[in-house]
Amino acid sequence: MSKDIIKGFPEGFLWGGATAANQCEGAYLEGNKGLSTIDVVPAGKDRFPVMLGKMKMLECDNEHYYPSHEAIDFYHRYKEDIALFAEMGFKTFRLSLSWARIFPNGDDAQPNEEGLKFYDDVFDECLKYGIEPLVTITHFDVPMNLVKTIGSWRSRKMVDYYERLCEVIFNRYKDKVKYWLTFNEINMLLHLPFIGAGLVFEEGENEEAVKYQAAHHQLVASAKATQIARRINPDMKIGCMLAAANFYPYSCAPEDVWMAMEKDRENYFLIDVQSRGEYPSYAKKMFERKGINLKMEEGDEELLKNNTVDFISFSYYSSRLTSADPKINLETAGNAFKTLRNPHLKASEWGWQIDPLGLRITMNSLYDRYQKPLFIVENGLGATDSPDENGYVEDDYRIDYLREHIKAMRDAVNIDGVDLWGYTTWGCIDLVSASTGEMKKRYGFIYVDKDNEGKGTLKRSKKKSFYWYKKVIESNGADLD
Ligand code: BG6
Repeated sequence: MSKDIIKGFPEGFLWGGATAANQCEGAYLEGNKGLSTIDVVPAGKDRFPVMLGKMKMLECDNEHYYPSHEAIDFYHRYKEDIALFAEMGFKTFRLSLSWARIFPNGDDAQPNEEGLKFYDDVFDECLKYGIEPLVTITHFDVPMNLVKTIGSWRSRKMVDYYERLCEVIFNRYKDKVKYWLTFNEINMLLHLPFIGAGLVFEEGENEEAVKYQAAHHQLVASAKATQIARRINPDMKIGCMLAAANFYPYSCAPEDVWMAMEKDRENYFLIDVQSRGEYPSYAKKMFERKGINLKMEEGDEELLKNNTVDFISFSYYSSRLTSADPKINLETAGNAFKTLRNPHLKASEWGWQIDPLGLRITMNSLYDRYQKPLFIVENGLGATDSPDENGYVEDDYRIDYLREHIKAMRDAVNIDGVDLWGYTTWGCIDLVSASTGEMKKRYGFIYVDKDNEGKGTLKRSKKKSFYWYKKVIESNGADLD
């Protein structure tokens, strides 16, 4: 192994950034797009109850502000944005498709040509600069009509609609897109069911049973997508996507260690199925204990078995911590759910703890478990930025976060031997925060002039981290200063 490889990353490593349609496109009803789940998720105090599926909001009203409606207007400004990504030297750009842009109602007989054309244009723009698109088929996004008519992923019919979507997009983009993710953070469905699966609960129903059934439908849909992709273009690579991060035990008490293992399993469970092709025994036992009877159709097990993913993609923001001792209960925020506060770690303004070594630990756990290539498709620091009059932000805090995480992933690759295909930082351009709906929680290398209330010119400007990341990519991760 040459010295350069030790310092940096293997040749062909895919550096880039990540976004999602629901958080950046805007133009929520333009180009014949139908209403999506995210379009009825307001900013403010009602956001969380809606995301949990506890508060029914099936239409927009005039009392709330809905950040997805305009977002950062990527729909009209994608050329300018992609040019900036190219200037940073991106090798890949992760984006998601808005399902309702392609099938406005989800169950339409024919796709919407204007929606398909939009993504053609976006992919062409990427390819023009040699940027490989990495596409999430669904990222917190379901056509609202399917929520209203069939209860979204609680219904098996969703598998057919998803299949129809996959047939269309794989055929249409087969020569433009090689890397696909079937569902963003598939485990999110268990924590934010409306966001993850368009689920709204009825009073008194067994919510867990509904969630696991919906998850089964997504797993079947994911396996079908993999099957279809391989038929249409065997060169396509299909990945699962996990909101990852290992749980640490609070202490060396065996009870804490056990609890951490259980929590990790809860997390891994769905990608265990996508990667290994079957429900793990601990999950089957858990269903038995809870009295949950999953409805499976004939052929499901075989389908899952024969259509496992090619690679494991994941988001990582921070490690997690758990304890069996109820007296240890000081919590802090994290990606979608809370975790115990780790006294060894600092946290972001939003309480997400900062743990670069946790990334190396998580990578090793995933690689040991699945023995498949990994792809880090989200990582970054959400922070408040203070731009000067030209929109320039001196964001050393963001650079520090990313530098330490890249070092940790470099160690995982070069010292531990983890096979990592690429790294896309989350929100490479500022976009709407999924959890809070704010613009103030910024991740980008590119500043977007817009505030939490939706005011601003939407002007783009380069932050200090823009120039830093450009250098990182140029040096293939060898120069992180
Ligand atoms: C992940 C999601 O959960 O975390 C993204 O896939 C999200 O959609 C990201 O934006 C960061 O979370 P937040 O809440 O800071 O936007």
